[in-house]
Amino acid sequence: MTDAAVSTAATSADIAAAVEQRRNFAIISHPDAGKTTLTEKLLLYGGAIQEAGAVKAKRAQRSATSDWMELEQQRGISITSTVLQFAYGGYTINLLDTPGHQDFSEDTYRTLAAADNAVMLEDAAKGLEPQTLKLFEVCRMRSLPIFTFFNKMDRPAREPLELLDEIEQRLGLQTYAVNWPIGMGDRFKGVYDRRHQQIHLFERSIHGKKAAKNTVLDIGDPRIEDLLDQDLYYQFKEELEVIEEVGPELDLDAVHAGQQTPVFFGSAMTNFGVQLFLDAFLDYALKPSAHSSTLGEISPTNEDFSGFVFKLQANMDPKHRDRIAFVRVCSGKFEKDMVVSHARSGKSVRLSHPQKLFGQGRESLEEAYPGDVIGLNNPGVFAIGDTIYQGKRLEYDGIPCFSPEIFAYLKNPNPSKYKQFQKGVSELREEGAVQIMFSADESKRDPILAAVGQLQLEVVQYRLQNEYNVETRIEPLPYAVARWVDGGWEALEKVGRLFNTVTVKDSWDRPVLLFRNEWNCQQIQSDHPELKLSAIAPVVSGKEPESL
Ligand code: G4P
Repeated sequence: MTDAAVSTAATSADIAAAVEQRRNFAIISHPDAGKTTLTEKLLLYGGAIQEAGAVKAKRAQRSATSDWMELEQQRGISITSTVLQFAYGGYTINLLDTPGHQDFSEDTYRTLAAADNAVMLEDAAKGLEPQTLKLFEVCRMRSLPIFTFFNKMDRPAREPLELLDEIEQRLGLQTYAVNWPIGMGDRFKGVYDRRHQQIHLFERSIHGKKAAKNTVLDIGDPRIEDLLDQDLYYQFKEELEVIEEVGPELDLDAVHAGQQTPVFFGSAMTNFGVQLFLDAFLDYALKPSAHSSTLGEISPTNEDFSGFVFKLQANMDPKHRDRIAFVRVCSGKFEKDMVVSHARSGKSVRLSHPQKLFGQGRESLEEAYPGDVIGLNNPGVFAIGDTIYQGKRLEYDGIPCFSPEIFAYLKNPNPSKYKQFQKGVSELREEGAVQIMFSADESKRDPILAAVGQLQLEVVQYRLQNEYNVETRIEPLPYAVARWVDGGWEALEKVGRLFNTVTVKDSWDRPVLLFRNEWNCQQIQSDHPELKLSAIAPVVSGKEPESL
């Protein structure tokens, strides 16, 4: 079948209309900040679920019906990230879920490559936490617009002004408070919405599982002073004066460039402040925009369909031992059974059985537009970063390797399984399940698994055993920080002998320095300012990795 045979009927006006009403985002947060709870409440407003609790129920059901993985069940966590789509206020919203456990994997980072906006969710009692900081760095690299939601205001929290200051100081990100809290913890009375100059009152008894209407008062309403405790009211007025006098104006260009963050306060659990956030988010968020490629910037309204693979997932459903490639649609209209070109191999691929991804459920998908994510069955065709397109050949900028923090030799104790071992490791590498490195010392030939989280190592071992029938052994290495050397081997040789580090090579034969800790890494950088190190590896395009 030719491309023309299933040519899309969509005009660029249709596509432009679809883009206008699409918004996509990922939530970046530290475990326990309330990501699941906030997701649930957002879905509640989107009508995707009727009652909060459904997302967790879905999780429970997933662990019950899936052996992906028994690990998931044993550890009581969610490994697979999913894409949730819901409609609200005339918009189609795609929420890209990022695995949030401490043992998160490279997929968590990669998901951000497919997101147009990020919501930074913080527990207001804690402020910035390590996992959020790591994910923030990736957002910054992509200049993603960041929306901040301070959660759990119904509990004792840090002072709001101090929370804003922390973002400004530690992230270098200007803050603009869209709403402002009145009290906190037992004395949490609500928020002031600066957009409409209204106070939304928090009434503990009515905010719960279902979407509830807030009592809303205009700022000039004389009842306010009676309804709020006087000291809280004066404190709120004072703080408001400070942010209105000293704080910046809302600057949407700066928000879209990732330089200013609109800030919200609320309580996801009691469903308070969530709708205010969602409404403002939809007004301020970036719509699907152009992506950079070998043909320059590709506009989403380009009539030719194109997209890239940002994640591969094996065995989501044990009944189908398949792999799903998650594709971010960048331009044009996707239609079921469309034939596209696969940029890396130059082959034509027919996209049959596309899937919508809602939790573990699979619904067949007929069409999709820029900003959407589609799931494609992947019989070994797709790799992370691959571009698919119709029309003129193009390749999107790939997805970089993110700094691993856990390293271990992977040993195959059974020589008769050598072939399966090689095949398994090589396929898991291609899929992006883990990074593979090698010692620069040629006598040490075992592959080094380089992972972002401990769980990735367990997943690799589990899958080698279950899919390739190879039992492996892990021998941990005492390193925690990896840095790629700008300028490669030549630059490294010029520097001469380095202490407190070892050199390994990645799958593209590039030198990587491993350090025991951040301190050792900083020490080398200050001793050798000429050495340029990078925590994120540049993308290699058009070159296959070294064979194992
Ligand atoms: P995560 O996905 O970011 O890891 O967090 P999750 O939503 O699972 O929330 C972590 C805990 O914080 C949960 O309590 C949840 O109920 C609670 N939580 C979330 N948002 C709020 C909030 O706005 N206010 C308060 N007070 N608590 C909140 P848990 O005891 O671990 O679980 P559960 O038994 O309540 O489900």
